[in-house]
Amino acid sequence: MSIPLLGLLLSLLGLGTISAEDCLARDYGNNGTVCVCNADQCDTIARVQTLSEGSYLLYTSNMAGLRFQIDNGTFSELSTTSENRIIIDQDDSYQEILGWGGAFTDATGININSLSSGAKEKLMRSYFSEDGLEYSLCRVPIGGTDFSTHGYTYVDETEPDVELTTFALTDEDYQLKIPLIREAFNLTDNNLRLFASAWTAPKWMKLNGAYSGLLGFLKSAMYQPWANYFLKFLEAYDSENIPFWGITTGNEPSLGFFPIEIPSVAWTFTQMRIWIRTNLGPTLRNSPYSNITIMALDDQRIFLPWYIDGLFLNSDVRNYIDGIATHWYWDDIIPPSMLTTTHDTYPEKFLLATEACVGDGDDISVVLGSWSRGEQYVFSIIEYVNHWTTGWLDWNMALDETGGPTYINNNVDSPIIVNASADEFYKQPMYYGIGHFSKFVPRGSVKISCSQFASDVPTTAFKRPDGGVVVVILNQRDEEVPVVIADATRGEVNLNLSARSFTSVLYW
Ligand SMILES: *[C@@H]1O[C@H](CO)[C@@H](O)[C@H](O)[C@H]1NC(C)=O
Ligand SMILES: *[C@@H]1O[C@H](CO)[C@@H](O)[C@H](O)[C@H]1NC(C)=O
Ligand SMILES: *[C@@H]1O[C@H](CO)[C@@H](O)[C@H](O)[C@H]1NC(C)=O
Ligand SMILES: *[C@@H]1O[C@H](CO)[C@@H](O)[C@H](O)[C@H]1NC(C)=O
Ligand SMILES: *[C@@H]1O[C@H](CO)[C@@H](O)[C@H](O)[C@H]1NC(C)=O
Ligand SMILES: *[C@@H]1O[C@H](CO)[C@@H](O)[C@H](O)[C@H]1NC(C)=O
Repeated sequence: MSIPLLGLLLSLLGLGTISAEDCLARDYGNNGTVCVCNADQCDTIARVQTLSEGSYLLYTSNMAGLRFQIDNGTFSELSTTSENRIIIDQDDSYQEILGWGGAFTDATGININSLSSGAKEKLMRSYFSEDGLEYSLCRVPIGGTDFSTHGYTYVDETEPDVELTTFALTDEDYQLKIPLIREAFNLTDNNLRLFASAWTAPKWMKLNGAYSGLLGFLKSAMYQPWANYFLKFLEAYDSENIPFWGITTGNEPSLGFFPIEIPSVAWTFTQMRIWIRTNLGPTLRNSPYSNITIMALDDQRIFLPWYIDGLFLNSDVRNYIDGIATHWYWDDIIPPSMLTTTHDTYPEKFLLATEACVGDGDDISVVLGSWSRGEQYVFSIIEYVNHWTTGWLDWNMALDETGGPTYINNNVDSPIIVNASADEFYKQPMYYGIGHFSKFVPRGSVKISCSQFASDVPTTAFKRPDGGVVVVILNQRDEEVPVVIADATRGEVNLNLSARSFTSVLYW
């Protein structure tokens, strides 16, 4: 049955909140399609309803154009088929999921605000509402990033202002971040958690006197002012009634070791250990935000576990830090086993993937409709959650057709590309890829054991707080793949995964 017809039927049955609009597909010739949205129309996906035991729901998105296509069926008796078996063991459980989402960068705000109010609402609903992806965990930059129109901080004085008396949020906060964050809280029924990350400190706090570039260390006299700056940020957002669940020790401390233009603060683990122990840890834990979640690293997994080992040489630092945040950019050369090693060494610390995007360093940043870029997202998410990671966050939630704005021309791709001149936006395969997790795997779900039968058809599985099981499968093959999902407590599901597809299977 087509999705609109199903929606109509359900609304005739009085289940009026359940309805779904179809994707308006457009093919830009990049081996995949986008779904076009504007003020009048945008594809939606209804919130999942619990099923009775013995049935399953199936959601498929594929390169040929299906988007969250719903199907259902019933379990059969366990068979002895041995081929392509995905064995689920609900009793063998791992980490708890913290959430899924993206970042409220300035570029995200500029692009969303460039739409008419009708289209803007459709975009916000696409990420946050019960008929969208139901994002639950988002990152907010403290001040500017490379995805701003210019470099800035909250204390851009020419003379040092160590007391931070001139600290003030900027127009970017008031126009590009706060209104959208408020709307996101509203659309999620306040079921949204935020964490903050700083890119650069004010120039006068840094040894190189610049927002970016080589030797971007903090002057040692500025260790306490920089910790106070984090606190000032939390207070400023608090006064706007925006609460934060977490904060990181700073975005990518490795950047400041290189002559590159992304704003940064450089830290060796020795310096960082001193700063957390003496300044950041006590400042936050003795503040009104004492229970905020503090995450270390916020950088590539090549720094695991040795950078964390270096930080945790001091037990106070180990106590101050709740979790370890990682980015995906050098994953091709660093195996995911680094995540497991880190988990095994510090099992009380959670791992969270806090930034990812495609198109950086490519000739063409935005490739509209690229299915393979969607596959990169799904492959990465499965790999991370299969190695103890508690969630996965995208980078910019919306960029323009050039993959910007970014004042240092670091253009990249995004799951949603906005075309302001047409007052429309394009939902890319990456959007559906992250959605195959965020939509079905709410915070508080637990990763459970799930066998792998082939490396090009990776799988993962979770148990939801309501007892449901979610199995997510990536078929990277150009052909259908028959699979058997076997759960000793239920029986088995026989499926043909369509070629080049993302599949989420749910049962209770
Ligand atoms: C589409 O896929 C085909 C077959 O893999 C490949 O030859 C072609 O270069 C791809 N086109 C684009 C635009 O990526
Ligand atoms: C399962 O699909 C059938 C038609 O294919 C539909 O009538 C029925 O409502 C669906 N059940 C659920 C729980 O979605
Ligand atoms: C969201 O906004 C609407 C309209 O202003 C309001 O009625 C509703 O209570 C808000 N919901 C939440 C969770 O704040
Ligand atoms: C911190 O504590 C307050 C008050 O007990 C609570 O409302 C808030 O949710 C807590 N925040 C976190 C991040 O646990
Ligand atoms: C954006 O909209 C303009 C104006 O309608 C159109 O000319 C252009 O082709 C659109 N861009 C894309 C990528 O569709
Ligand atoms: C999968 O496809 C094969 C070949 O088309 C077909 O024989 C089989 O019945 C299908 N299996 C399921 C579970 O639909």
